[in-house]
Amino acid sequence: MKSGILVMIVGPMYSGKTSELLSFIEIYSLGKKKFKAFKPKMDFRYDNSRIVSHSNISVAAYNISKAEEIYSYLDKDEKAVFIDEVQFFDEGLRDIVLKLVFSGIDVYCAGLDVSYKNNPFPVTSLLMAHADTIIKKKAVCHECGEYTGTLSYKIVDNGGEIDVGGFEKYIAVCKDCYVKLNKEKGRDKNGSIERNY
Ligand code: ADP
Ligand code: TMP
Ligand code: MG
Ligand code: ZN
Repeated sequence: MKSGILVMIVGPMYSGKTSELLSFIEIYSLGKKKFKAFKPKMDFRYDNSRIVSHSNISVAAYNISKAEEIYSYLDKDEKAVFIDEVQFFDEGLRDIVLKLVFSGIDVYCAGLDVSYKNNPFPVTSLLMAHADTIIKKKAVCHECGEYTGTLSYKIVDNGGEIDVGGFEKYIAVCKDCYVKLNKEKGRDKNGSIERNY
């Protein structure tokens, strides 16, 4: 039996991660290949039973709270598994994804590489280490307008590094605007949060 592949789609908010995931889903769908899509239950934005992009394109998905629930939804002849918002899953997702890949299933994951504090999300890092392909997406920086947005900036002061939301809480920014905005907010004396950039 031929192994599957692991594709990671990562980047800041609004960089088109979900859209890219949806475009891969369309390829399997057009090829009449069997697949299942998943997203974490805690991502309550938009619709509970669908993966939805910021441009409002969507696909049916199972809402799961623990990574191991994926197994219970899979049929024998599944060709691919798609998972959005992987940063919200427990690190157990890594073993599950590897089992799927080695059993011949292609796995496509989309998620944030780092939080608004520029801390890597551990589960995303782990999955990237095993990926056959990593697609690093960029956003248009909401501050300067350049297509160099690699970070997410939090515009509100409440909530932690796990805090579901959209434009009311976060914008995408380039590195220079990230440092500038955090400095202006007085988050720490160096502008970046908890680091000396
Ligand atoms: P992600 O899952 O990475 O947050 P989505 O695929 O849901 O991204 O949304 C991407 C869409 O968001 C783009 O096609 C565009 O219509 C919209 N968008 C809003 N703000 C931006 C931005 N600053 N840069 C790029 N796209 C943006
Ligand atoms: P998105 O990448 O599809 O836009 O979604 C990212 C989700 O992650 C969104 O619900 C906001 C949330 N989030 C955090 O929980 N912590 C963070 O540090 C950032 C940047 C986003
Ligand atoms: Mg998304
Ligand atoms: Zn910028």
